Amino acid sequence: MNNIIFTREGGVKLNGLLKNVASSDIYLLMDTHSRDYCMEYLQLDIPACNRIVLMPGEHCKSLEGVKKVWQVLSDNCARRNAVLVNLGGGVITDMGGFAASCFKRGIACVNVPTTLLSQIDASVGGKTGVNFNGLKNEIGTFSIPRYVIIDNGFLSTLSQRQVLSGFAEMLKHGLLSNVDYWNELMSVDLSDVGGTEFLELIRKSVAVKSAIVQEDPCEKGVRRALNFGHTVGHAIESVAIDDDLDICHGDAVAYGMIAELYLSVKKMGFDLELYKNIRSFIRGLYPRCMGVDNPERLYQLMLHDKKNDYPGVNFTLLQSIGKFVVNQYCVYDEIIEALKQI
Ligand code: GLY
Repeated sequence: MNNIIFTREGGVKLNGLLKNVASSDIYLLMDTHSRDYCMEYLQLDIPACNRIVLMPGEHCKSLEGVKKVWQVLSDNCARRNAVLVNLGGGVITDMGGFAASCFKRGIACVNVPTTLLSQIDASVGGKTGVNFNGLKNEIGTFSIPRYVIIDNGFLSTLSQRQVLSGFAEMLKHGLLSNVDYWNELMSVDLSDVGGTEFLELIRKSVAVKSAIVQEDPCEKGVRRALNFGHTVGHAIESVAIDDDLDICHGDAVAYGMIAELYLSVKKMGFDLELYKNIRSFIRGLYPRCMGVDNPERLYQLMLHDKKNDYPGVNFTLLQSIGKFVVNQYCVYDEIIEALKQI
C-alpha cells in the first residue's frame, strides 16, 4: 500500500513524484471531463502533444481507445522510461493501465482517480482492461500502477448519485472487514466527501482492498471476495444495458449485496436481524431500480459469470461481518428466493 498516496494536495504530490522524469517523458491521459475540471489542478508542465484526451464514457474503454493512446506514445517516440498519468474515473484508469502495461512491453503509469468509485476500487489493485466483443473487461492484464494518488478534493464536485455509486464499494469493504468500520460507514456524512474525515474512511476502505489483493494479486482465490454483491450486481447492470435503464454500478452492487447477504443468512448462518438492518440501510440510500424485477432473467445472466467453474453460480458469502468464504455455489431455487428479497 506504500505506492498509494492519500492527500489533499494531489498536484503537489504528483509533481514531487515525477520530479526526476523529463517532462517530455510524461504523458497525460484524460477524458474531456477530467481535462476541463481536474487537469489545471495538477499543474503538470508537459508538452501539449503529450496530452491524450478521449470522450467520456464506457464506449471509449475499447481497443480503439487504447490505440489512440498507443498512437500518441509511438508518434512521440515514447521510450520505456515514459510515464503515463491516468487522470479520471475507472474507464480512464482501467484503459490507461492496460495501454501502459503493453506499450513496449510495459511502461510505468500513475493513477490519479477523480471519482469515488475509482478511488475506492478501479485505480487500486492492478486490474486493467478494455471491453471487447460486447463483454466487459474481456481483454486486460494485472499490472500494478507505480503510484496511485488519492485526493478527495476531486470529490466535492461529484453528484450525490456518483458519490453513492462509489459508496456501495465502501459498504462492501465494510462488510468484508469488521464491525467497527461497518458502523462508521453507517453513520457517515455523505455531504462532506471532500473533507479530511472522509479521506480517512477512504484510506480504511483502500486498506481492506489492498490487503486482499496483496494476498492474491491475480484472483486465484481470496480476491474473489471483492466480488461480494457483484454476481447479482453485474446481472442487474446487464439488464440495465439491454433495457437502457438508468442504473449505476453502485445501485446494482448495493442491491446485489442484499441478495447475497440473504444467501449468507440461508447458507452460512449470517445473523437474520443484522441482515434486516443492513437491508433497510441500503434501501434507504439507494433508489430501487427496475432491473431487479425479473429474478428468472437475472438468474440466466448470472450463469454467464466469469467466476463459474462448476454447475451453479459462484458467490462469496459471509458468515458474519468480516468473515467471508469464497467459491460458494448456490442453486436455482436458492438464488431465485434471494433475488425476491431485493
Ligand atoms: N474490483 C474487484 C477487484 O479489483 O478485484
